[in-house]
Amino acid sequence: MDLLPIIQKRCSCRRYDQTRTVERELIDKVLEAGRLAPSGKNTQPWHFYVITNAEKIKELGKAIEPGVIKDVPKMAGAAAEKGVSNIVFYDAPVIVNVSMNKKNSIDTRQMDIGLTVENMILMAETLGLGTLPVYNSKWYGQDLITQTCKIPEEEEFMLTLCIGYIDPAQPRTVRPRKELSQIATYVDL
Ligand SMILES: Cc1cc2nc3c(=O)[nH]c(=O)nc-3n(C[C@H](O)[C@H](O)[C@H](O)COP(=O)(O)O)c2cc1C
Repeated sequence: MDLLPIIQKRCSCRRYDQTRTVERELIDKVLEAGRLAPSGKNTQPWHFYVITNAEKIKELGKAIEPGVIKDVPKMAGAAAEKGVSNIVFYDAPVIVNVSMNKKNSIDTRQMDIGLTVENMILMAETLGLGTLPVYNSKWYGQDLITQTCKIPEEEEFMLTLCIGYIDPAQPRTVRPRKELSQIATYVDL
């Protein structure tokens, strides 16, 4: 399978099909892709806390949302405008809260999490699922997510990945990127 077209058509999903749940088999495939990601010294410092209870996900998002709105007041009313209950998890039917081990990943933690989450994002895309990486859940909901998922002291909750079928009524908009000539240089030696 050619990967580039998958990467080219992927975009973040903020409207999920509310009539569909995600099959456990597909969630497991996404997690499996995350499991196989490379990490510094092969420490594999991640743990994936999966929540599939759509009502609980809405509840968590609503509890976290006021913090986002306090910092970014223009987001007040955005949920209603977008037809979702909150602008944290956008009513995704599945969230994966990713934690990282504090001890054995200190130097490469930020890179390792990027690699495992990107593996999951691309796997989900090949399965016809939309995703959204969410940092607001850490920024404004660190304690809530840590308590809810019972994340142990030796781990730090870092990021949420929302997963779900894309609302078919929602057009997918691929955001622009810089040209390769702006970001890549062949170093002539
Ligand atoms: C580490 C990370 C954190 C992000 N956190 C949020 C977030 O909290 N809320 C949100 O709506 N989007 C979030 N995003 C999505 C970005 O806004 C989005 O990826 C970016 O604008 C590019 O758009 P695209 O994913 O559609 O290509 C995050 C993305 C990354 C990589």
